[in-house]
Amino acid sequence: MNILAIETSCDETSVAILETPRRLRANLVFTQIAKHRPFGGVVPEIASRCHVEELPGLLRQALTEAGLDWRDLGAIAVTHGPGLASALLIGIAAAQALALRLDVPLLGVNHLEGHLCSLFLDESAPRFEDALPFITLIVSGGHTQLIRVEAPGRYRLLGQTLDDAAGEALDKGAKLLGLGYPGGPLIERAAQGGDVRRIKFPRGQPTEHAAGLDPELCFSYSGLKTALLYQIKANPAAATEPELKNTAASYQEAVFDALIERSMRALERDDVKFFGCGGGVSINQRLREKLAVMAERAGTRLLLAPPKFCTDNAAMIAAAACRQLPLAPDAEKIPRLDVHPELIFGVFQALEN
Ligand code: KG4
Ligand code: ZN
Repeated sequence: MNILAIETSCDETSVAILETPRRLRANLVFTQIAKHRPFGGVVPEIASRCHVEELPGLLRQALTEAGLDWRDLGAIAVTHGPGLASALLIGIAAAQALALRLDVPLLGVNHLEGHLCSLFLDESAPRFEDALPFITLIVSGGHTQLIRVEAPGRYRLLGQTLDDAAGEALDKGAKLLGLGYPGGPLIERAAQGGDVRRIKFPRGQPTEHAAGLDPELCFSYSGLKTALLYQIKANPAAATEPELKNTAASYQEAVFDALIERSMRALERDDVKFFGCGGGVSINQRLREKLAVMAERAGTRLLLAPPKFCTDNAAMIAAAACRQLPLAPDAEKIPRLDVHPELIFGVFQALEN
């Protein structure tokens, strides 16, 4: 079956067509970065207007690239949260209209589950079922979560950030360093050749108030951002060359050390054979190297998505929908989909029990 998927949760407009189980026939991503850059971050109103403008063309182009006709589509999938409400709405409206017109099932996908399923999109990756149970770290602009995947559709949240997400910490740090938006890739570039030990930044280990989760598996990045601010105030040269690369490298290292330390702890307490990492931050080369060392030490196999599937894309939404399809209660019926901007636990909470 061909699933057409739409992703509009933030500042990427994306359409993909996946022939189940994993033949990707098209994956088009229009990134809006240039439109938001003058404002130093994502402007929701601009994002949704841009989705409206780009989506029709991307839909037609995806069909052409896949060599398919509308009638060849067997299901429509769309991200219904978490994300920016007004941006999600555009994708949902389009998906709903398509499903009605084509009389095919409509599937709402949790964006985080999409990131999780991106780990299995590549043909060289193991099959999802063969990796079970596994632990995965989702690191994006809005989320930082350690999840134990027990079975298809059964996820247990092990830990998460109590304040900023890892990507957010990089974005805010880049702003403080005058690097611009989006911060992750700019810090990565600025950190090239820098000394990761030049400045000792905190590794943000929460000790309590972890919302029912084990604080030892949780993250806190708000203190790190403040530490950078004080560092720059006390020593403005830290934000200009030649010191900038050392500051950026030390800051980036602090963000990643926290991820590695909590992930290693989760692995030491478990006996899973696979550890995965997905989401926009997982494209970072330094993080990928550190994850490889950690996995080796823990004796687990590392699952990383190819770079093109790390940042937001609709292929991962199609992959998640593909997993959902057999579980859909009534695949013939077109459900009404609502927007869930705060769908942090939508899928994940259900999985916890
Ligand atoms: O998953 P994603 O594309 O969108 C969300 O779901 O949020 O992740 C976006 C995040 C941003 O914080 C961005 O700065 C970060 O991923 N990112 C990176 C890199 N490229 C994007 N972080 C570190 N290194 C990168 N090269
Ligand atoms: Zn994302």
